[in-house]
Amino acid sequence: MKSIQNAIETFKNTFGQALKNASTEPLLEEVRITFLGRKGTLADLMDQLKQLSIEEKRIYGPQLNELKQWAENAFFSQKEALNNKSQHAELEKERHFDVTANKPDVLYGSLHPLTILKERIENIFLSMGYRIADGPEVDNDHYNFQALNIPEDHPARDMWDTFWLDIPGLLLRTHTSSVQARVLAESQPPLAVVVPGRTYRHEATDATHDFQFMQLEGIIVDKNISMGNLIATCHAFLQQLFKSETIQLRVRPSYFPFVEPGIEFDMSCPFCTDGCSVCKYSKWIEAGGAGLIHPNVLKSAGIDHHTYSGFAFGFGLTRLAMILYGINDIRLLHSGKIEFLEQFS
Ligand code: FA5
Repeated sequence: MKSIQNAIETFKNTFGQALKNASTEPLLEEVRITFLGRKGTLADLMDQLKQLSIEEKRIYGPQLNELKQWAENAFFSQKEALNNKSQHAELEKERHFDVTANKPDVLYGSLHPLTILKERIENIFLSMGYRIADGPEVDNDHYNFQALNIPEDHPARDMWDTFWLDIPGLLLRTHTSSVQARVLAESQPPLAVVVPGRTYRHEATDATHDFQFMQLEGIIVDKNISMGNLIATCHAFLQQLFKSETIQLRVRPSYFPFVEPGIEFDMSCPFCTDGCSVCKYSKWIEAGGAGLIHPNVLKSAGIDHHTYSGFAFGFGLTRLAMILYGINDIRLLHSGKIEFLEQFS
């Protein structure tokens, strides 16, 4: 009888002390397992009750139940107190958060050079009254080719090495001209739109060619649009982009099935006057293709080609980034190299 009485007292003392010392949640959990767990001290005491006589059970049964109740309550109060303490500590941390603290060696993120350039270009064209359009990168044969006067089996398809999808008729767009076709089909003239976006070609990569790169498509459709308008617009754009009044444009005849006549633009090298490594000592840099929108393209979009005419151009936006920022290998742009990217922060 005496021994169970002592055990109850000892339990109260040791458990009470252990609770006091449990200053963290893991320590408190250890206390719970030792004293209140299935094989803990309290369970032992309860087991001892089984060996007592009926008389003794009457005395110690209620005492042990009371002890159990007390121990559990004490445990939960301590748990709550610890919880409140840690919440309070978090709140204090927030309250004293020093927004001016300067931690050395922190890496800051920055916009990707292609994003910086895209936004600059968009601002230039917005200031000229253009709107920005977007289109799907997975497109279909119709918008990437057929609506652009490139029917099936047309040899000009070889100009664009295409990533075809397993789903018949779907492809990764080879040029942003696919959005030209979409914009023409969806809007009525007068319209002035630019489309910066990603394009894909099934090509081997080298320092100036990637299988994924960005282009900038531009179109205007209105009455009396001429080659003069096209050249003046592209000239003004490049002068603003390179912040140079002295940039000149050179126009060479070229062929794209969706324009007639078709041309290719070269711009005078913005970095030299008599040849440098950027222009490969030619003083000229290829900038993109352009021309007056072919009547078949306007017809296919339901636009009256007798009343309206338009121009379209397609610059290699990634190539413009290379020229502007002096990047000598196109593959650096997708390398994810911190040393490369942090130059633009
Ligand atoms: C076209 O893609 C035509 N859609 C452009 C166009 C639009 C012509 C509207 C007429 C009217 P081209 O394949 O030449 O054209 O590509 C245009 C530009 O994209 C090139 O001048 C070049 O700057 C860039 N480019 C082409 N292939 C790659 C490549 N593999 N990697 C990086 N840039 C490229």
